Amino acid sequence: MQVANTKEHIANLILDLRKTNTSIGFVPTMGALHKGHLSLINKALQENEFVFVSIFVNPTQFENKKDLKNYPRTLNRDIELLETVSKTKIFVYAPSVEDIYVKNVKSIKFNFDGLENEMEGEFRDGHFDGVGTIVKRLFEIITPDKAYFGEKDFQQLQIIRKLVEKNNLPVKIIGCKIHREPSGLAMSSRNERLLPEHKAASPFIYKTLQAAKKKFGTKSATKITAWVKKQFENNELLVLEYFIIADIDTLKPVKRKSKSKKYRAFIAVYAGEIRLIDNIALN
Ligand code: PAJ
Repeated sequence: MQVANTKEHIANLILDLRKTNTSIGFVPTMGALHKGHLSLINKALQENEFVFVSIFVNPTQFENKKDLKNYPRTLNRDIELLETVSKTKIFVYAPSVEDIYVKNVKSIKFNFDGLENEMEGEFRDGHFDGVGTIVKRLFEIITPDKAYFGEKDFQQLQIIRKLVEKNNLPVKIIGCKIHREPSGLAMSSRNERLLPEHKAASPFIYKTLQAAKKKFGTKSATKITAWVKKQFENNELLVLEYFIIADIDTLKPVKRKSKSKKYRAFIAVYAGEIRLIDNIALN
C-alpha cells in the first residue's frame, strides 16, 4: 500500500492516476480506524477505481486540548487494517501538521448559514471552522471526484455540503449510514477509551433514540425532549449534554412539525470523560 506523508507525494500519485480516465473517491479520517470508517471506504471502493484515505488528527478542530492529546494515534495498525481491504486500490495520506498548515496552525472563519451554531457548534467553540479548514485543504490536495462522510456526524456532513455549495468545490458529497456495534452503540474511535462500566451502559443512548423515534408520530418534540431528559436523570453512568429534534436542512430545533420536512433526533452524552454523539432519522 502506498502511504504518502506530503502533499507533493500526493500530487505525483494523483497525476499518475489521472493519466487514465479514473475516478477517485476520498474518505477523510482522523485514524484509529474501525468498522464505521471501513463502511465508508468500502462504499467509496464500490463507486470509484481508487480511494484515498487521509489519516490526520486535525488540531484546529479540537477546542479541548486534553481531547486532542488523548486522541488515539494508531497509524501502523490503521495501515494494516486498510491492507486487509485492498493493497492496490487504497492510497493513504498521513501528513504532519506542518505539511497541512505550513506555518500557522489556525482555522479559516466560515459562514455556514448558521448550521455551525447549532448543537455541536454551541458546545464546541470553533470546531466547525477547524473541520471546514481541514476538509477544504484536503479537497485541494486530493482533488477527489467524490468524498464520503458518515451520518454519525450528521451536522458535519451538512456543513461539508454547505462548504462545497458555497465555494463551488468540484466534488460530490456522499452521506453514509451509521455503523453500529451489535449493542447499538454507534462505532467511534472514542469508544476504545470507555471504561467497562460506561461501555456496558452506553447502548442506552441508541435505545433512547429508538424510543424517541417511536413517540415522534404521536407526541410533540417538547414532550419527547422532556421524556428523554428524565430517562437520563435516572441513569447514573450517562450524563446528557443535549437532546434535540431538528429539521435536517437548518438543524434548528423543531417547534411545530411539518409533513413536508425531514427531522432527526440528535444527542450528546458524557460517559465518564468520554463524549459520545449519535442521531436517528425520525421520518
Ligand atoms: P473521524 O471521526 O475519524 O471520522 C471520519 C469519518 O468517518 C466521518 O465522516 C465520520 O462521520 C465517519 N464515521 C465515524 N464513525 C462512523 C460510524 N460509526 N458510522 C458511519 N460513519 C462513521 O470526522 C472526522 O474524523 C473529522 O472531523 C474529519 C472529517 C476527518 C476532519 O478532520
